[in-house]
Amino acid sequence: MLNFLKAKKVTPRLRRPSNVNIKPHKLDMSYESGLKANFYANNPFLSAIFHSLSAQFPAGERFLIESVRLFQDSITDEELKKDARGFIGQEAHHANEHEQLSLALKNKGIPTDMIEKHTEWLLDKICTLLSPKDQMAATAALEHFTAMLGALMLSNSSLFEEVHPSFRALFIWHAIEESEHKAVAFDVYQNTIGSYPRLMAAYLWTSSLLVLTTSYYTVRIMVKDGSIYNLKAILQGLNWMFGVGSNGGHFRRMIPEYFTFFRPNYHPWEKDNSLQINHWKKVLNELLEEKKRA
Ligand SMILES: [Fe+2]
Ligand SMILES: [Fe+2]
Repeated sequence: MLNFLKAKKVTPRLRRPSNVNIKPHKLDMSYESGLKANFYANNPFLSAIFHSLSAQFPAGERFLIESVRLFQDSITDEELKKDARGFIGQEAHHANEHEQLSLALKNKGIPTDMIEKHTEWLLDKICTLLSPKDQMAATAALEHFTAMLGALMLSNSSLFEEVHPSFRALFIWHAIEESEHKAVAFDVYQNTIGSYPRLMAAYLWTSSLLVLTTSYYTVRIMVKDGSIYNLKAILQGLNWMFGVGSNGGHFRRMIPEYFTFFRPNYHPWEKDNSLQINHWKKVLNELLEEKKRA
């Protein structure tokens, strides 16, 4: 029993597919002109959920970077060391890009500054309470969420079609890179710490906290813009998340994937979505070329 609790390297590492690279790319979009606050399917409820997540990203992704940095020198696998550098670079660009978006959204009346400040405060407090190992476990767990969201978008092109053009490139870019580096934090954790119970404990508290903070900020955004009284938009949004039909139940369909993380031999690359990653990379390049020409 004790040996089980101390078990190291619970999961044999699956190498990322050779057609996937973890290279940081800057997006550098300009969000000031033509930004639409109700950017997702013209629905204020769904848009508020994504704004709430987006405004938590800058502090959140810096937390992930710091955790990986704490263990970077202890990684024993050279390829993983390189991937960890790629992960840090990609997350740093994500944090900067979402910070730019937050500034533009603040000018549209969305309280992203409040969300950013709260998230920074909360993560500072969490860092003082957690050991570095627990911080790394939380990072590996949180990366499962961003990987699930990224995979959800990449596997369903209609989801990108519902995104207003001012946000589309950001969504595609972030979804691609979250999929590219989906195993890095997990592998760093397995390589340097490897305790299964510690990872599962982190998964439980990070998922509860993320749902709680995202719900709270979504309500705050909707109270501020008055859409909290828009029952039609709320019902449409709930159907999008948990309902039935081809354009419904997107979060409901993620539930089995949430639970796969509990499997002791789970590995993020057991589901190879490299073809989707590469398809969307081409779409993104075309989109960015088009923007340059415009
Ligand atoms: Fe990210
Ligand atoms: Fe990530």
